[in-house]
Amino acid sequence: MASELRLGVNVDHVATIRNARGGGLPDPVRAACAAAAAGADSIVAHLREDRRHISDDDLIRLLEAIEIPLTLEMAATDEMLDIALRHAPHAVCIVPERREERTTEGGLDVVSGHNHLKRFVDDLGGGGAIVSMFIEPDQAQLDASRSIGAPAVEIHVGAYCDALIDGEHETAERLRQRIVDAAAYGAEIGLKVHAGHGITFDTVGSIAAILEIEELNIGHFLIGDAIFGGLDSSIKRMRSLMDKARAEALGEACLLYTSDAADEEDSGD
Ligand code: PXP
Repeated sequence: MASELRLGVNVDHVATIRNARGGGLPDPVRAACAAAAAGADSIVAHLREDRRHISDDDLIRLLEAIEIPLTLEMAATDEMLDIALRHAPHAVCIVPERREERTTEGGLDVVSGHNHLKRFVDDLGGGGAIVSMFIEPDQAQLDASRSIGAPAVEIHVGAYCDALIDGEHETAERLRQRIVDAAAYGAEIGLKVHAGHGITFDTVGSIAAILEIEELNIGHFLIGDAIFGGLDSSIKRMRSLMDKARAEALGEACLLYTSDAADEEDSGD
């Protein structure tokens, strides 16, 4: 059970806006510094094969400028491995990548990619990075992640968030239960459990309430919301929603524990 819940802010979409025009503005490095000042625990950036988000130069500048950890999202390719080993980010999240997709669609298939992925976990871990696998909330994917030696997983919560926002309550509940079960199982087998994708002000509470989750990584919504009130205010609001949900869930877990202990004492009398 993790009492602390970290917030990673993904600055890819600041780069996307910059790239729409060319030139240097808006600068994702400036956004990363603002995010850190607003209370982000880490910065996340995805160096894609087609460089549609951050560039190689952004990665270097981010590592120089920010004082909080950087998580590099990357596909399991030799080019990316080489870059990650050269720049040594604090953490690396391995994601699936298809050129034609608009965003990372679905988690990594660690079960079938086991042999290919193990080398990345070994090499990146050997270089000092905390390596996570971006996976669907699925027991087989959790087992496979553990068996290749990954210390952490990031559970893809995008489908759940979409269903909740679209008002598909039954689907959302079913998908949330999968996330709850996966987080519990992941923690039980010794994995650090993170979550990300599609999180908004309306969906963050129910994910933050899952006590095994230690880190949320959020990008698109925060950058979009910042258009209206600034990054500082968007991040502070997200932080306060996640902290409130986590505090309430911890309070409930504590009450449950106390009443179970009292029941046991009563039955012992
Ligand atoms: N985590 C991972 C592994 C991702 O690929 C992304 C999207 O780049 C995110 C989190 C953030 O998702 P979103 O931009 O929808 O908040």
